Amino acid sequence: MFERLPDLGADDVTVYLDGAAVSARAGDCVASVLLRHAPHIAHRNPVSGRPRAPFCMMGVCMECAAVVDGVPSTLACQTMVREGMSIERQTSLPDVCKAGHDG
Ligand code: FES
Repeated sequence: MFERLPDLGADDVTVYLDGAAVSARAGDCVASVLLRHAPHIAHRNPVSGRPRAPFCMMGVCMECAAVVDGVPSTLACQTMVREGMSIERQTSLPDVCKAGHDG
């Protein structure tokens, strides 16, 4: 779906997307990693379960919310990759959001 443009000056880094090692470049945002790897989504809507993907790439739409280094609802378009980073597609409500919805 998305392909990287050649950038011979950037250093390669390894990040872990849903547990799998994938390559990124220093200066990439996390959203670009999500968009380059199937299923190209960041999270599922907690109510409908429908897939959502980065859209605005400027911190406005919130469609890029993902779990980054264990922190849920991180805006992937506003977060730069770093070596060894853990990125997970968010498939459920963060625990903090579930409080008060159990009863
Ligand atoms: S893509 Fe819109 S807030 Fe990140």
